[in-house]
Amino acid sequence: MTTRRDFLRLLAGTGGAALGSATGLAGPSALARSGVGSASAAEPRTILLDARRVRWELAPGRTVTAMAYNGQVPGPEIRVREGERVRVVVTNSLDEPTTIHWHGVDVPNAMDGVPGVTQKPIAPGDTFVYEFEARPAGTRWYHTHFSEHRQMDLGLSAALVIEPRTPEPIDHDREVVLVLDDWATGAGPAVPPTREGTAGGRGSLGGMMSGMRGMMGGRGMGGTMGRRAPHEPPYDTMTINGKAHPAIEPLRLRRGERVRLRLINASNEHTHVVHVAGHRLRVTHADGNPLESPVEVDAIPIAPSERYDAVLVGDRPGAWWLHCTQPGHAAAGERMLVIHDGAPATEPPPPESDASGLAFWHYGLGGGRAVLPAPTAETRRFDLTLSGGMMDSDRWTINGHVWPAIDPLRAARGELAVIRFRNMSPEAHPMHLHGQSFRVLAVNGVRHPAPLVKDTVDVEAHMGSAVVEVVAHNPGDWLLHCHKPMHMDGGMAVLVRIA
Ligand code: C2O
Ligand code: CU
Repeated sequence: MTTRRDFLRLLAGTGGAALGSATGLAGPSALARSGVGSASAAEPRTILLDARRVRWELAPGRTVTAMAYNGQVPGPEIRVREGERVRVVVTNSLDEPTTIHWHGVDVPNAMDGVPGVTQKPIAPGDTFVYEFEARPAGTRWYHTHFSEHRQMDLGLSAALVIEPRTPEPIDHDREVVLVLDDWATGAGPAVPPTREGTAGGRGSLGGMMSGMRGMMGGRGMGGTMGRRAPHEPPYDTMTINGKAHPAIEPLRLRRGERVRLRLINASNEHTHVVHVAGHRLRVTHADGNPLESPVEVDAIPIAPSERYDAVLVGDRPGAWWLHCTQPGHAAAGERMLVIHDGAPATEPPPPESDASGLAFWHYGLGGGRAVLPAPTAETRRFDLTLSGGMMDSDRWTINGHVWPAIDPLRAARGELAVIRFRNMSPEAHPMHLHGQSFRVLAVNGVRHPAPLVKDTVDVEAHMGSAVVEVVAHNPGDWLLHCHKPMHMDGGMAVLVRIA
């Protein structure tokens, strides 16, 4: 059988401007529109995206006015080959400006999608052409970078998978991409905010931080201070690939089948903790970048904008929940049936939020493979203190400054920039750097001997810290910011200027 993907590969192989992906764009008609007839071997792969408002059913009785790429939430998965030239023609059919950021991709600076920094916003009715080489390989994603707290909240995000040139030594039979998101529909009770985060260094580290959390009334792993600040949207629905339970299609497994999950947290605020009842997850990639060797855990905390690849092995017959263990999330829709072939399709009882006893992923567990270039020059050091959010304020600062009134961090090409974050605020901040990935050298004072390669590091609340090392190799002005858009808009952003 020839699948759609094979068909698209075939087109790419014959020099045609092939399209996105299996789940993505309409084949022949979009192909015609992209002018495939004139394509030569050097012609980039062309993908058409149209951003517009749509009505979107998250679950029966929960239909929202969303913003969608090509009418779907999340947008079409884009799947390309490492090193391939990609051209994305974006038409803005919204009634407000927009841009697209290619999160985790080492794009040229002008293609980075940051309004006011790398481009003018795309005006309503206008078209903008993004063009870049797809690298590095891995689970990347794309999303709006204009008025993110609203536009991303309304659905403008999607998966971007860059397949490696040389196949990876990962044993899996197929893969499934799961984009996690949160919605404020007004149709149900709000789930508690994920204030403190869970992705950074919990699990086995604990120590002073967990003691303090206990004192402050947190609930340890998955802890939350509970109350929502007045400016925080009342998120009440949690989705997997744009749908909430009971609208989520089950994942059916053959006996012994190994499924590579590509997990992407597109939420604006929430950390999700992915667990499959009765099964372990073998983590192979963090933010798309390979680990030295897989790490087996029960559950994976994923901060906003983080990605994890993990292999699920279908070795426990029956019907199980894949779900988020954060309080209220599974009840708000974030659960998907995993049914083994031959098992009766009856639902197990609803999953519990009680995550005690589970082994959690954290940054200290995995070793990153050395995929970044080696530094050739000086080391520069930067200390960034993250503050704000006191008394429910929506002002967030770096070294006391509110973006854009803050000097860039400067590094020359080839230099090593060591950035130390200290979080003096009551919320975790998933700090993301555009344009290149970094190594996570230490978290909460604990050094990691084999640093992970990531593009987002979740810095824990209440004096949490993280040290990252950037080999400055991609020239330009790159945003370094908190990936909770409310915090970014509240000022928590700075430029890293690489000249
Ligand atoms: Cu997903 Cu400015 O980032
Ligand atoms: Cu933040």
